[in-house]
Amino acid sequence: MINVFLKNHDYKYEVGELLKLFTSQFNFVDNDLNKGKLLINDISIENDLVTSKTYFYENNNLKFTLEERDTIEGLDEKKIKKESKIVIKRSIFKVLTKIYKSYVPWGILTGIRPTKIVHELLDENKSKKEIDNILNNKYQMDESKINLAYDIANVERKFIYPPDKNKIALYVSIPFCPTRCVYCSFPSNTIKQWGHLKGDYLNALIKEIKGVGTLVKKLNKEIESVYIGGGTPTTLDEKELNILIDSLYENFDLTNIKEFTVEAGRPDTITKEKLKVLKDKNISRISINPQTMNESTLLEIGRSHKVEDIVNCFNMARALGFDNINMDIILGLPKETPNMVENTLKQISKLSPESLTVHTMAIKRASKLKENIQEYELSQYMDMVKMIDISMDYAQKMGLNPYYMYRQKHMLGNLENIGYSKKGFECIYNIQIMEEKQSIFALGAGANSKIVYLDENRIERVPNVKNIEHYIKRVDEMIKKKEEEVL
Ligand SMILES: C[S@@+](CC[C@H](N)C(=O)[O-])C[C@H]1O[C@@H](n2cnc3c(N)ncnc32)[C@H](O)[C@@H]1O
Ligand code: SF4
Repeated sequence: MINVFLKNHDYKYEVGELLKLFTSQFNFVDNDLNKGKLLINDISIENDLVTSKTYFYENNNLKFTLEERDTIEGLDEKKIKKESKIVIKRSIFKVLTKIYKSYVPWGILTGIRPTKIVHELLDENKSKKEIDNILNNKYQMDESKINLAYDIANVERKFIYPPDKNKIALYVSIPFCPTRCVYCSFPSNTIKQWGHLKGDYLNALIKEIKGVGTLVKKLNKEIESVYIGGGTPTTLDEKELNILIDSLYENFDLTNIKEFTVEAGRPDTITKEKLKVLKDKNISRISINPQTMNESTLLEIGRSHKVEDIVNCFNMARALGFDNINMDIILGLPKETPNMVENTLKQISKLSPESLTVHTMAIKRASKLKENIQEYELSQYMDMVKMIDISMDYAQKMGLNPYYMYRQKHMLGNLENIGYSKKGFECIYNIQIMEEKQSIFALGAGANSKIVYLDENRIERVPNVKNIEHYIKRVDEMIKKKEEEVL
């Protein structure tokens, strides 16, 4: 256990997140008395310089000491705080890499949107070389991750620049699933337990669609993309899908949308009739998600379908004319090895989807997996790195390029999720949600609206309640909260 003593500052959250990249065995203390294993960080600000010193003691001996400094000349208070945190994290990071000798490719970046920093630097007209230097020296990022973030930011810019205040995205949540996958913490109420509320839920959702439709018209905003996600939207039957999508067309002006996605998700919810409804309603992009193409893992993670079902659904969608199909997979599922991941990717290559979203397993607090963690065999860090390399190789072979990425808390190896696509098949909604340059009006239980005030560099979140019964009862309040934020 390492004791951590912060002197002259109290950035425990930031330091804690950084320490977690190396170890969970640490404890904040308020003195430097116990030097069994003690990390001290001290900060001072003088002559336009912020200086952070880190010391590491073991058995009363000073083992490592390191000093980092940056200029804060001309910066306002908010920016000084931001720079101070960076210097503190960097000096601690350098000491931790000496203690643990770990490979931490994202350096001191612990946030979920690493590409945002690249966008900020590109906004300042920095060259690739300057960006490389900053990401490497200031943030301690590894070259491979620098290039990845840089390439993705450059693809994204075509879709998000210049930001247009007049455009918004629309998200609709269907929080039902056939069964609950062990790793998942998304709003996913099983049909068996909650299916009886589907009708009432749909009625409430349509009420919200009407309310927010009126609001968006009042604001005179143009919708750029629509995304129906969840959960598993295809737990709705054909009739319900028809009603839902018709109500979106009736209440919003969707004439100029560039993309309409429906997450078909689990193959055990997809039928030819449902796909036909989606096709008739001009859904341009669907997602059919294997997670893995290994039968034994599908069983292990509680997905009650077979590999064959995935292939059949995919072929059915193709035959009906869907020309933009995404597939989601997760690396690091229980008992999976790099060879098994290779098998998954080999099989997916044969289907040749337009996009592939590669997630790294995250141990979510509200998942069954976290509850019974001792029962699962999880991948080790170096295997995760191998799996990521394999997925990158296959994506390239399939003609797919990385176009968006994000990181989550509690990811195995603290790595990343990457969306790959063929050129021209990048999902605009995914890019907008990550880069936060566009407001998202989100409807349904557990959906979080995000209102972006570009001029003020400010984002306000308006969350809907997660619980379906509460949502049904309180839908008027969900509409009102959005009105209060934007009117
Ligand atoms: C909101 S889920 C909906 C997808 C759909 N219901 C399905 O299961 O196919 C979106 C994606 O997040 C990913 N995901 C969910 N939980 C995850 C976890 N704990 N770690 C990594 N990825 C996860 C899965 O790849 C999933 O397809
Ligand atoms: S991964 Fe998809 S199907 Fe599984 S519980 Fe989560 S949302 Fe539902």
